[in-house]
Amino acid sequence: MSISKKEQTLLDKIQEVSLRRGFAYPTGEIYGGLSGTFDYGPLGTLMRHKLINFWREYFVKEENHFEISGAIILPEKVFKASGHVDKFNDPLVQCKKCKSMFRADKVIEDNLNQNTDGLALDELDKIIVKNKLTCPQCQGEFMDAREFNLMLKTEVGSLKGNVSYLRPETAQNIFTSFKRVSHAMRAKLPFGIAQVGKVFRNEISPRQFIIRVREFTQMELEVFFAEEQLNDPPRFEELADEVLPILTREQQDKTEEEPLLVTADDAVKKGILPNAAIAYYLVKEKIFFEEAGIKPELIRFRHMLPKETPHYSGGNFDLEVKLSIGWTEVVGNAFRQQHDLTSHEKASKTKMGIQHIAGNVIPYVVEPSIGVGRTMYCILESCYKETDDRDWTWFQFPSTISPYDVQVCPLMKKDGLEEKALEIFDDLKAEGLEAIFDSSGKIGKRYARSDEIGTPYCVTIDYDTLQDETVTIRDRDSMEQVRIHLDELTEALVLLLSGEYSFTEMDKILKEKNES
Ligand code: ATP
Ligand code: GLY
Repeated sequence: MSISKKEQTLLDKIQEVSLRRGFAYPTGEIYGGLSGTFDYGPLGTLMRHKLINFWREYFVKEENHFEISGAIILPEKVFKASGHVDKFNDPLVQCKKCKSMFRADKVIEDNLNQNTDGLALDELDKIIVKNKLTCPQCQGEFMDAREFNLMLKTEVGSLKGNVSYLRPETAQNIFTSFKRVSHAMRAKLPFGIAQVGKVFRNEISPRQFIIRVREFTQMELEVFFAEEQLNDPPRFEELADEVLPILTREQQDKTEEEPLLVTADDAVKKGILPNAAIAYYLVKEKIFFEEAGIKPELIRFRHMLPKETPHYSGGNFDLEVKLSIGWTEVVGNAFRQQHDLTSHEKASKTKMGIQHIAGNVIPYVVEPSIGVGRTMYCILESCYKETDDRDWTWFQFPSTISPYDVQVCPLMKKDGLEEKALEIFDDLKAEGLEAIFDSSGKIGKRYARSDEIGTPYCVTIDYDTLQDETVTIRDRDSMEQVRIHLDELTEALVLLLSGEYSFTEMDKILKEKNES
């Protein structure tokens, strides 16, 4: 009798291929790892660069925003003023017997499939007691739930008591630099300050691979508006007719899951969104995520319920992606209003207002905050393929995201083919393409390896190449091949990768050319 194997979940499969091919793996793996931290390997790092560059192009450069790179360790005063010291907490329960700790809300959600968003500690205790929920490790009883602050605390310098924190969001560098940046750049409202960087949260129960970790990277944008500009953001009319999938609070009260489809313009006019500035950034996110490889039907914006809205926000609309583990937040969109600048003005005694038209104003803030690791996981899941046309798994990444653009393969290592292929490999890299060279094993195996990491094209150098300077381009999605002269190779690849031509169109053009 065969031993039945637990069926692999999609998360298991993604994690397995990520480890094996070097997208991401546990930090300090040879010592058993460190809970909630992962290293990104060569492929994960290339993919991260592409994702961050794409974000930079689309959210920073295209909007003429400014980007900064702030320090990770910030003084306690910053987080006292921002409210994080007092309010950045999760509810924790500890087992009386084995002392293991868990997030109280997650214990309830996992066992009872019950939404606990925003419940107070005593309400969580009541549910735990009523349903006799016990420690998942040893079935011991839980102590009463208590607040646990998620920031990682440290002391800086040789003097004791100089308390600082590893930042739990990049946003606070932006708020504390606001005056400096606005003066240095002679910025006029509205304008944005962006930042990509590491943040740290001492999550009680890190889990689900790179989805809930203790060290991660955010791509954040704080966009500053004068109050009257909130409904008249630059270029809104370009995106006003785009449709947004929004799950309203009323729908959530009725436990509906499918979002309302409404244009950005209507969402503002009907009061579903607080202002056009938020609507504009939600549309941009939707486009960004779709171009990054996430299927449109897997994306929705959820209006967070009052109880789960962060302390600083006048309304949050999280972008959620439907993963195999359920709808998961990937972008926190907060209308932070004047909260942070006003709090820092009060605590630091630095005037935070800036000149606008006739007077001095403290701007309102719209914040899209994107998690890099979570976005990468969503892309991995959304692009993962098991298809009948091949007996290996593959990723159908868009070229904006795929770690490599092209794999270069000599058909054989001998007879000068490898040398010729290396020349072509160097040329493609010099033209700015992200290329990988693979000359080991049978060509079919090499195509499979290339598909497995989602490389859109393979260029193969064979004996004809030595005669007539032509090579083949193999398309990952169709597995079709087309022959092309080396003089045209780079241009053809650039056109294919930019989406200007589909492989079928390119194939047709080249065949017609070859026949004439
Ligand atoms: P969650 O409710 O899942 O804990 P959050 O509401 O605390 O998330 P935000 O504070 O809005 O998240 O952070 C902005 C983004 O940072 C999130 O949308 C997510 O992409 C990312 N993020 C937050 N916490 C984590 C984490 N522990 N691990 C990985 N990414 C995270
Ligand atoms: N800056 C938003 C967040 O990280 O919560």
